[in-house]
Amino acid sequence: MPHASIFLIGMMGAGKSTVGRLLAAGCGFDFIDCDRELEQRAGASIATMFELEGEVAFRQRESSLLDELTSRPRLVLATGGGVVLGEQNRQHLRSRGLVIYLQASADEIARRTRTDTTRPLLQVDDRPARIGQLLEERGPLYRQTAHLVFRSAAANPRRLVARLLAHPQVVEVIATGRHAG
Ligand code: S3P
Repeated sequence: MPHASIFLIGMMGAGKSTVGRLLAAGCGFDFIDCDRELEQRAGASIATMFELEGEVAFRQRESSLLDELTSRPRLVLATGGGVVLGEQNRQHLRSRGLVIYLQASADEIARRTRTDTTRPLLQVDDRPARIGQLLEERGPLYRQTAHLVFRSAAANPRRLVARLLAHPQVVEVIATGRHAG
């Protein structure tokens, strides 16, 4: 496969953006955060898109952007936590690059998103219960889409990125621009 990139998947609050930015710097790749790119293109926040258009329309925007961005070379892409819900998305990720699942426990995610006001799916009375439910639904999808799984939120991001950069499959993508799949 030509032009492999690195795709980070995982729940909200798992550290995809922080880790992705550092990883891209370490690889000499460009970094793109799908959510921020979607917001820039729409000229509206994710919360506003959810409110005005609903989740289904948001997922369509997200899928079409993912199709475009996963086709680009030498990129570290931080995806939105719900991207694995779409089968086509999972296929694009898995077949076009090296997919790394940043895994965090429900408790860690709850702690890291405690003060969040921007993620529509977390604006509920019982946030820990919602996180548990999302993780239960999505855990199997994250695992089946990923080539590599790394424990995330408990670790120091720089230390985690150093471990990622030392992994043979990451080294291969950086060196050859290819991923064997
Ligand atoms: C979502 C995660 C968010 C964002 C939207 C929906 C989800 O991205 O795409 O709020 O369904 O898990 P992050 O994982 O970057 O927070």
